[in-house]
Amino acid sequence: MSTSMNRRNWLKSSAMLAGGLGLAPALKWNTAEAANAIAAQLYAMPKEQVGEMVMARPQLKARLLANENPFGPCKKAREALIGEIDGSFRYGFEKKAEFAELLAQDYKLTEVEERGRGKRYTQVLLGAGSTELLMAASIVYGQNGGRILSADPTYMSLIRSAQNVGAEWDTVPLTKDYKHDLNALADAVSEEHSMVYICNPNNPTGTSVDPDELRAFCKEVSKKKPIFIDEAYIDYTPDPEKYSMADLVAEGYNVIVTRTFSKLHAFAGLRIGYTLAQPDVIAEMSKYTNGDGNISSPSIAAAIETYKDKEYHAYAKEMNEKSKQFLYKTLENAGYEYIPSDTNFVLFPVRLDSNRFRSEMMKRGVGVRSWSFSNQEWCRVSIGTMQDMEYFAEAFNEIS
Ligand SMILES: Cc1ncc(COP(=O)(O)O)c(C=O)c1O
Repeated sequence: MSTSMNRRNWLKSSAMLAGGLGLAPALKWNTAEAANAIAAQLYAMPKEQVGEMVMARPQLKARLLANENPFGPCKKAREALIGEIDGSFRYGFEKKAEFAELLAQDYKLTEVEERGRGKRYTQVLLGAGSTELLMAASIVYGQNGGRILSADPTYMSLIRSAQNVGAEWDTVPLTKDYKHDLNALADAVSEEHSMVYICNPNNPTGTSVDPDELRAFCKEVSKKKPIFIDEAYIDYTPDPEKYSMADLVAEGYNVIVTRTFSKLHAFAGLRIGYTLAQPDVIAEMSKYTNGDGNISSPSIAAAIETYKDKEYHAYAKEMNEKSKQFLYKTLENAGYEYIPSDTNFVLFPVRLDSNRFRSEMMKRGVGVRSWSFSNQEWCRVSIGTMQDMEYFAEAFNEIS
């Protein structure tokens, strides 16, 4: 079914739901009663529509379903955002150039190309969030008989988009401790593959691989095929600099590292991401993005501030860790296991059907995501504020 069809059905269903409940959505949509009544009915709907409805609901008590950072953008980023509003009638060329320069200097990727509007770093590509960049890569490596190799389960944006342009997808299961099986992936890479996709840390499992092993894997396998490393959650690992494969780009390896500000930097709504890769890869990917043109000037001004604000990075990480430890305790106290996470979400096995579990949590105002793999039902819960985690614990203890 096409996306436009889904959206039409969704709109129709929302209208029917609101009508059926006798609600005037504009007036009552934000009350907890309305939220719960709607949530209770949602699960009579087809699964894919439920997903869209969940994302549309702003009135959850605890929204723990999109791995957002609830501690919000840092103060300097907020000030930069506000400060940029008056000048936002202009395109933000200068700030974008400044941000690209910062990245290029830090990652030692200073090769430039002269262009009409000035220089362009040939190994850096900015995006309005990393999804834009994942989409671009999915076209470059998915079209014309592309074939993507990845672990399963993993983050599906790039893979699904590649499939939409005709690519095949080959999978390798995770190890017993739910990490990427690098040996199996190395064995599985064949001449037919156009790209290897590695999400590290992995979504939905929250696991990361040993950085030395991943580095050795990248050095070897990238001689055969490009490796795309999705580092959306890298900032939450014990040592982001070591865990990141970005340095391999400067060393000339064919790895494509993509990062986002949506997680640790709390920019999910502000939309900032970037890719670091070899010049020929960046040139190809650029054809399928709007350069940096989709990024707003307030967002880029804020990005420069948060990027430099190391104190905030430590703060956000510490807050995440505190809430995560509380969540671990909640699960342990109820006799549940979980996969130890290097991210801002945790995956744990549930005893109910996972859709039912999610629906019961939703009825209690707590949004989570559900998965089913390895003959097991799972819940993925994002790390929120301590208050969010208390709401989670309350709802979870009622149904566990
Ligand atoms: C692994 C991974 N990559 C990329 C993204 C896309 O994030 P954004 O487009 O907000 O940068 C997400 C979002 O949750 C993600 O989990």
